[in-house]
Amino acid sequence: MQKIFITGCTGYIGSHTCVELLEKGYEIVGLDNFSNSKPIVLDKIKEITGKEIKFYEGNMLDKKLLQKIFKENDISLVIDFAAYKAVGDSVQKPIEYYINNVSSVLTLISVMQEFKVKSLIFSSSATVYGTPEVVPITEEAKIGGTTNPYGTSKLYVEGILNDLSKADPEFKICIFRYFNPVGAHDSGLIGEEPNGIPANLMPFICKVALKELPCLNVFGNDYDTIDGTGVRDYIHIVDLAKAHVKGVEKLNSIDSGLLIYNLGTGRGYSVLEIIQTFEKVNNIKVPYKIVERRPGDIATCYADSSKAFKELNWQAHKNLEDMCRSAYNFNLNR
Ligand code: UD1
Repeated sequence: MQKIFITGCTGYIGSHTCVELLEKGYEIVGLDNFSNSKPIVLDKIKEITGKEIKFYEGNMLDKKLLQKIFKENDISLVIDFAAYKAVGDSVQKPIEYYINNVSSVLTLISVMQEFKVKSLIFSSSATVYGTPEVVPITEEAKIGGTTNPYGTSKLYVEGILNDLSKADPEFKICIFRYFNPVGAHDSGLIGEEPNGIPANLMPFICKVALKELPCLNVFGNDYDTIDGTGVRDYIHIVDLAKAHVKGVEKLNSIDSGLLIYNLGTGRGYSVLEIIQTFEKVNNIKVPYKIVERRPGDIATCYADSSKAFKELNWQAHKNLEDMCRSAYNFNLNR
């Protein structure tokens, strides 16, 4: 069976994708430095699937390590998840973000070229659209105008991959632009575990529900949305992970090219709708208060995901209730 190299394999999106690929019979060679994940995730993946990843601990910037991995394994495709993703942090430490999120990709690509492995799936983000001019956002929408180094790092890598694909037509590249991944695997064994106080909505709500944090701050209720709070396209992490299986199948079926897909559900929910649904399905209160807008936030962002449906035969199946239920269930288990 095909061997896939996954960087960031114990992270939130990486771990769920490993599960889906292992269950389809793919073999996985994984790399992680546990900068934002824990070694126990490897055991959890094994518990869910009954299968093991061939794991290497280390950093993607370590070219010698990458060469060793490619030498020791007959890899035919790479999925690159390894990156820093805390927006606020990236403003404080831009150079660390550019080194970790951009230089590392250059190192990876140079080693892929050396070993003639020319299939790559790259994790990008809806953040590359900046402030969208129209919603739903299609892949043809203008990109740029990112407001922080994290977002800009994703934009830069997209540009690099674009140039690479033109210069070396043997490369087959799939860029996924994620909207807002939330929720956890049905088993409750893997999920999102950010370090420190969460910056994103769903992990924050879970901590408030568990009384680990006193109260949720809702960042503004004066946006031009149904109830004034921010609207986002939340997508269940397992749906998102399954898109990567489709991405692998797609790259295996083409000879050349760069493909870009939005991964979202195509519908937006407000912060208050998320709180209400979370409270209902989990039968628990989430105390909140309205505070100032968060700098850099936009009112509304949701995807047109019809391209992924047409070309990958992929669409999200799980609803907001599944997302809220599974996120809380994982947090109860952690
Ligand atoms: C954020 C990042 C985005 C990144 C994504 C990763 C910003 C400006 N954007 O997206 O670049 O790709 O995370 O998952 O940080 N909210 C609250 N209270 C909270 C947290 C969030 O009201 O404590 C609101 C926000 O104002 C927003 C919504 O909830 O309307 C979702 O926020 P969040 O989960 O942080 O995601 P994004 O801001 O969409």
